[in-house]
Amino acid sequence: MKKRERTYDKKMEKEIEKLLKKLTLDEKISMVHAATLFKSGAVDRLGIPPIVTSDGPMGVRAEFMDDRWISSGNQDDMVTYLPSNSALASSWNPDLAYAMGHVLGEEARGRGKDVILAPGINIKRDPRCGRNFEYMSEDPKLTAALAVPFIKGVQDNDVAACVKHFAANCQETDRMMVDEEIDDRTLYELYLPAFKAAVQEGHAYSIMGAYNRINGTHCCENKRLLDLILRMEWGFDGAVISDWGGVHKTKEAAQCSMDLEMSIFPDFEDYYLAKPLKEAIARGEVSEDMVDAKVRNLLRMMYRLKMIGSHKDTRKAGTYNTVAHREAVLHTARESMVLLKNENHTLPLDAKKIKKLLVVGVNAARVHSDGGGSAEIKALYEICPLAGLKMYLGGNTQVQYVKGYHVPEKPKTFDHNWQADSVEDLRNTNIGQVERPEANQENERHRREEEERLAQVAREQAEIHEKNPELFAQAVEAAKDADAVIFVGGLNHNIDSEGFDRGDMKLPYEQDLLIEELLKVRKDTIITFVGGSPVEMPWRDKARAILWSYYAGMETGNAFAEIIFGEVNPSAKLAETFPAVYEDCASAKNGQFGKWGSISLEEGLYCGYRHFDRQHITPAFCFGHGLSYTDFEYSGLTLKAEKGKNVKLSFTVKNIGKRAGAEIAQVYIAPIAAKVDRPDKELKSFAKVFLAPGRSKKVSLTLKQEDFAYFDVQLHDFIADAGDYVILIGASSEDIRLRGIATLA
Ligand code: GLC
Repeated sequence: MKKRERTYDKKMEKEIEKLLKKLTLDEKISMVHAATLFKSGAVDRLGIPPIVTSDGPMGVRAEFMDDRWISSGNQDDMVTYLPSNSALASSWNPDLAYAMGHVLGEEARGRGKDVILAPGINIKRDPRCGRNFEYMSEDPKLTAALAVPFIKGVQDNDVAACVKHFAANCQETDRMMVDEEIDDRTLYELYLPAFKAAVQEGHAYSIMGAYNRINGTHCCENKRLLDLILRMEWGFDGAVISDWGGVHKTKEAAQCSMDLEMSIFPDFEDYYLAKPLKEAIARGEVSEDMVDAKVRNLLRMMYRLKMIGSHKDTRKAGTYNTVAHREAVLHTARESMVLLKNENHTLPLDAKKIKKLLVVGVNAARVHSDGGGSAEIKALYEICPLAGLKMYLGGNTQVQYVKGYHVPEKPKTFDHNWQADSVEDLRNTNIGQVERPEANQENERHRREEEERLAQVAREQAEIHEKNPELFAQAVEAAKDADAVIFVGGLNHNIDSEGFDRGDMKLPYEQDLLIEELLKVRKDTIITFVGGSPVEMPWRDKARAILWSYYAGMETGNAFAEIIFGEVNPSAKLAETFPAVYEDCASAKNGQFGKWGSISLEEGLYCGYRHFDRQHITPAFCFGHGLSYTDFEYSGLTLKAEKGKNVKLSFTVKNIGKRAGAEIAQVYIAPIAAKVDRPDKELKSFAKVFLAPGRSKKVSLTLKQEDFAYFDVQLHDFIADAGDYVILIGASSEDIRLRGIATLA
C-alpha cells in the first residue's frame, strides 16, 4: 500500500523543534496526560497552554469541576443543541455537515475549547448499539462524505475535531475491554475508510483512540492501528487522544503513537503516562524519544490551532448561542426527518381544516438534550414536537395532549456521574498493568449488577403494565372525535445511551399495543417517532403515514410541525437499514453482538444493506429510503469509462409533482463476475438535487478507480479489477431507477 506523504510545513516544524528542545522531561511528561478531567498539562514557563477538550457531537458539554464529575453549576454554559450525527446523516447533505461542524466549532471556540470530541463516525454494525445515535451510518462512503465536511467546519474555527472512536467501537456492552476479532479485509473496507477520509481529506487534527480491543490489543495501545495504519499508511501527523480510561498499560501506550492519555480519575499524576511513565523511562523500558514524538504531535496540533507560534494572535475567538447557529440547526432538522410511509397523501395535514388536534405519546412532550452519556448537552432550549405543533397552529386550534403510555422515570443522580461509574470499573477490576480477569457475566460483580438490572426492568414493566390500560383508554377515547390524531412515540436516552446497548429492537412501554388500538379507531393516525436507532414496527402495514426523526436538536418541534403541515417538504433518507425484526440482522444471526469478553465480526463486510442484499431479506425500510410530498423521475443514464480507470456518469432527475422538493439520488456499483466475493452492491456516490415543480437537473458524477476497488489482503492494498460493473442509480438501495454497464480496463 502506498504510504501517504503528508504536507510538510517547515516553519511549523522548526518552531516545534525549538520548543521541544527547551522542555525538560518532567514538562514533556506533564503534557502527555490529563491535568484535569478535560485538560492536558501546561508548561507556563514556555507559554505552552493546556489543551482544553470538551464533548460532544451534539454541542459543547457543560463545564465540570476540574477533578470531579460534578457540574460546575454555572449559568453560562447553555449552548446550541445540534441534531445528532444520525439525524445529520439522514440529510445526505455535505453542505449541512459542514454547517453543523462550523456551528460546533464556533461554539467550542466561543467556550474556550481547543478540541471538540466529535464527530462520532463508527459504522453502525448492529441496531441495538447504545451509541448509534451518535454515529452516522452503516455505510462507510456516506459516513466519509459527511464526516469530512463536518471536520472542516469544526477546524475552520481554529478548533480541532477529535474524530472518534478509532476504531470499530461497535458495542457498549463491556466497552472498556471487549475484544473484537475483525479480519483485515473487513477492517480496511468497512470500519476504517471513514477514518481514513477524516485524516486524508478532512485533515483531522486529532483522533480519539477507542476503548475496545481489536484482535487482542486495546486500540489505545495498538501499534498496528496507531502507528502502521494511521501514521505510516495514512500519513496522519496530528494528535491521538485516548478515550477517557482507554489506556491500560504504560509501556505499550508509551511505545505506540498514543499522544495524550485522558481518563476519569482525579489522581492525574498516577495516570499510566504520568509518574509510571517516568519510572519506565528510568528503568530503560521507554526511551525519551518516544515521549518527544508524542509532544511533537501535540505541539503540531497546538500550532495548527494557533495556540502557540508566531501567528497565535490571529486565532479565531468563536461565539455561542447565536441566531445563525439556531437557524442552521433548524435547517438541518428539517432535512433530517424521514418520511417512511405516506399512503393516499395522508401527509401533509391541512392546518386550516383542523379545529381539534389530538397529540398522543410521551415523546411529543419530552426533551432529550440532557441525556445519552457524554453527548449530553445543557441546551439553551429544546422545542419538543408538541410545542412545535402548538407554536405552528396558534390559539385557534384546540390541541389536546395525552401521554398515551407510561414511561418510568430514572432517578437523576447529582452526587456522581454515570461516566465515572462506567469507567471506575476499570480501577475496581485492578486492570492496572496486568490483564484483568476476563470480565463476563459469570464475573460475580457483573452477575450481581445484571441481576439488579433485570429486577429493575421487571419493576418498570410491572409499573408500565399497571398504568397503561387507563392511559390507552384515555387516548383511544380522545381519538374518536379529533379532526386529526398524531402519535409521537419512540425511544429516549434511558434507552439510546452510551454505556449500554438495547436488549432488543422493540418499541418500549407497550407502544405497539397502543398504536394498534389507535389505528383501530383512527386509520388515519399519523405515526411519528423520535429516537436514536431503528425499532420494529409490526403494525406498519396498517398505518398510512409514518415519520421518523432522530434526536434532531433544539429546533426539533419546529421542523416537525413544518413537515406535518407541509411548510417543509421532507427530503431525508435512511442512512441505516430498518430491519423488520432484529433477528434479521447479521449480528443477531451470528450472535456476535452485545457479548462480554470477545466478539467475532463473523459477518465480515455483510452488515446493514450488504447483509440484507446477500441474504435476500426484505427490511421494513431499506437503506436510502425516504419519501417526499412530490415525486421524482429519473432518466437518461450515460456512462463513459475514461482511460479505463474512471467512469463518468450522468442522468437527469425531474420533479414531476406539484411542489418543490429535494431528491437524494444514489449511485451503487455491482461487480459482474468478480474474482473475489464482494457485496451485491455498494454505495459509491450520491447527489442531493433541489428542484421546483416540473424542473429537471442533469446530475454528472465521476466514479474513480478506487470506487471499484476491494481490499486484497495478500497484496495488502486496494485493487480495482478490470471488468464489467453494473452501475445502479437508485432513489433508495431497493428502488433502482436506472442501470447500465461500465467496463473498467
Ligand atoms: C466517554 C466517551 C467519549 C467521550 C469521552 C469524554 O467515555 O466514550 O466519546 O468523548 O469519554 O467524555
